[in-house]
Amino acid sequence: MSSRAAAKTKPTEDAADRPALLLAWYDRHRRRLPWRPAAGEPADPYRVWLSEIMLQQTGVKTVGPYFEKFVARWPDVAAMGGASLDDVLRMWAGLGYYSRARNLHACAVAVLNDHGGIFPDTEDSLRALPGIGPYTAAAIAAIAFGRRTMPVDGNIERVVSRLFAVEEPLPQAKPLIQQLAATLLGPSRAGDEKVRAGDERSRAGDSAQALMDLGATICTPKKPACSLCPLNDDCAGRMRGDQETFPRKAPKKTGTLRRGAAFVVTRGNELLVRSRPEKGLLGGMTEVPGSEWLAGRDDKAALKQAPELKSVTRWHRKAGVVTHVFTHFPLELVVYTANVPPRTRAPDGMRWVPVATLADEAFPNLMRKVVAHGLN
Ligand code: ADE
Repeated sequence: MSSRAAAKTKPTEDAADRPALLLAWYDRHRRRLPWRPAAGEPADPYRVWLSEIMLQQTGVKTVGPYFEKFVARWPDVAAMGGASLDDVLRMWAGLGYYSRARNLHACAVAVLNDHGGIFPDTEDSLRALPGIGPYTAAAIAAIAFGRRTMPVDGNIERVVSRLFAVEEPLPQAKPLIQQLAATLLGPSRAGDEKVRAGDERSRAGDSAQALMDLGATICTPKKPACSLCPLNDDCAGRMRGDQETFPRKAPKKTGTLRRGAAFVVTRGNELLVRSRPEKGLLGGMTEVPGSEWLAGRDDKAALKQAPELKSVTRWHRKAGVVTHVFTHFPLELVVYTANVPPRTRAPDGMRWVPVATLADEAFPNLMRKVVAHGLN
């Protein structure tokens, strides 16, 4: 090997090799699964469709025996289209998500009646069938018909987000991950002499299944076996050393939205504050006075909980709201402001602090947002 070839570490070259590296790995290491034909053999669209529907919410291990049972009883789509829905539901029992079984039967009937028992071979026409969404349409189009499209499931999202160190969290990152995943497709086989001229078939199905297998066996959620990965030389996540932290996920918004009011009262350059009770949420921290935080909206009740200050005859309501997400609930606060004369006493349990020294207070982020909103 020349020293030039041995020193081949340029990312652009490696990146261009990815589709080929992936397919070469798949040819050696692909999982044997009941719906997959032997290497090089054409896929049967009926088996691809049936497996993809079963795999929508269920793992490979559980699906295996069901798949075998179904194809033994109904060897093709015409046979299933001629069966009763009851029989299909009975065979499906135990797989869960029964709307899938109803759609499965409806789809078989539609292929039989509207397409002469032959599955349509484009993503769009597949999507028009019952139970086939964008992911499943792409999977069938790629695996059964060699259409150059990349179905992106959870495994593929993980592999791709690590390979490119995608910082954007899911689900917003889905379009970007889709685009990046498509760069892992090999070329179309139009130039391949074994394929008829004009035939656009590719190995897209193998590329997609290679990524699925990589995600299931090597690029696993915990402790990925990077040393065995065919793409490890050029994996951005691995280079950074934090591959296991991908994909990024937006924090789950849990709990019911609560609402309340906060009162930003100034006395010259001072702000009226109090301390929260020691126990509970933000225990002991400083806050501006406010109402209870409750589900539902009752602005009048919230305003009644304003601090008692004789000189304030009218509260000024700031436009907009301040939002904050706690672990257990999101919060939305309306902010009222007032400015009081110099000698005004702080109500019981409250005190004046100079705005300039707020940084020294135990002022939580929520309150920083409230004060910024009230003073601006
Ligand atoms: N999950 C969904 N489709 C799959 C397939 N064709 N192979 C492996 N896992 C899958």
